[in-house]
Amino acid sequence: MQHLIPEFDRWRRRYPAEALPSLVLPCLRRIQDDRGFVAECDIAELAAYLAVPRIQIEEVLSHYTQFRRAAIGRWHLQACRNLSCSMRGAEAAIAHLCRRLGIQPGQTTADGQFTLSTVECLGSCGTAPVLMVNAAYHENMDSARLDSLLDTLMQGSTVEAPT
Ligand code: FES
Repeated sequence: MQHLIPEFDRWRRRYPAEALPSLVLPCLRRIQDDRGFVAECDIAELAAYLAVPRIQIEEVLSHYTQFRRAAIGRWHLQACRNLSCSMRGAEAAIAHLCRRLGIQPGQTTADGQFTLSTVECLGSCGTAPVLMVNAAYHENMDSARLDSLLDTLMQGSTVEAPT
């Protein structure tokens, strides 16, 4: 985390001293963007940097499900399984992903390329079923579209969400 301190310092100058604990959330997001997850050493270093109790950082990490405490695959597939997506085939799409990748939700492929998660509503119910790949949305997913997407990812290409 130490190499992020100059960036954090710039943010810090915009906050009054009594509001420094408010920096916990953006700092954690930046750390995760950088490392891919929030490590134990990051928690200790951030607590010292912001002069906040460690528990304050642990509370943020446990409250927001987007934070990860361990490494995941290069591609994080987050499949929505909430009502609209379920009604439009999310279970079949998730089962298809499991078959293609040889993993279950919550697992990472042996080559470290893919982590599959199931999540609640991604806020795009009108285009269900929805899959997020890292930060990009992929909508109206069926088996054929999933196959095309996975093939592209397996070739090492980045994918833009279709417009
Ligand atoms: S239920 Fe899947 S995006 Fe809302």
